[in-house]
Amino acid sequence: MTLHVDDVFAPLDHDHILERLAGGNETEVYWTDDRRYVVKLKYDLGGSRSQALQWAQWMRAVADRYTACLGERHTIPNYFILARGSDGRIYPLTIQPFLPDARPLDALDYRALTPEQRTTIALQLSEILRRAHAFYRATGSMPDLYGRSASSSDERERMKALTQLPQRLWSFLVERTVLRSHNLMLVHNSEPRIVLIDYDPVRRGRFYRLIYFAVRRILLLRDLAALAWLRRGAGVDREGRTRSPTLRASTSSPDPS
Ligand SMILES: Nc1ncnc2c1ncn2[C@@H]1O[C@H](COP(=O)(O)OP(=O)(O)O)[C@@H](O)[C@H]1O
Ligand SMILES: [Mg+2]
Repeated sequence: MTLHVDDVFAPLDHDHILERLAGGNETEVYWTDDRRYVVKLKYDLGGSRSQALQWAQWMRAVADRYTACLGERHTIPNYFILARGSDGRIYPLTIQPFLPDARPLDALDYRALTPEQRTTIALQLSEILRRAHAFYRATGSMPDLYGRSASSSDERERMKALTQLPQRLWSFLVERTVLRSHNLMLVHNSEPRIVLIDYDPVRRGRFYRLIYFAVRRILLLRDLAALAWLRRGAGVDREGRTRSPTLRASTSSPDPS
């Protein structure tokens, strides 16, 4: 358990100390003490009040669009607030309900699922891909259905180093199919449901976004192949050997720290 103390948590917590739950590509994710909500903080977004307000308004607008894209069944609520950190800078915070009993798709052991469970997951994912594709055709963008995890801010910085570029490209183009997503989580309530938990905008220039989303669109074809693989039986042949090396099984926890 890693505890973080920062005045930025003041609107949500008496002693300004929250436990770190996980980390992604750009965000540190904390738990409220009652375990009902997660608090998402991007340390690089601190600035003046008007800058933070602009970020928050943009993030909210994008989150609304992605929620409309995937529909109520595959999304969760997002709330945005501004708070002053211990360093005096103002940060936009994203608040979401904490999803208990939920696991990122990356943590699923697909070989251990029943045929019915695989079918349910494949059906929901193909609906999500279909909606993302329709949204791309209408708007030129789509939600990030993939994502990565980082055990700490230091690891996140290391992953961004130029020397890591080949590994990042390999991971982006080949390894991280929708079945290995960190941004989609499987929720087990009355019925299994796949939901998007990451609604971040792409914070790059127009030209980068154009290329990025065009590549993402092509990679949807790769994901359709991954779904076909899932429907065929999660890569387990009659002798129990795995057929697909890329779509490996994993039981790792969402936060490796
Ligand atoms: N609402 C949530 N409930 C439970 N776990 C969450 C929630 N939101 C995020 N997480 C965990 O935190 C990780 C990183 O969150 P994410 O928003 O994707 O960060 P980033 O924007 O950096 O990619 C997720 O992969 C997941 O394990
Ligand atoms: Mg993410």
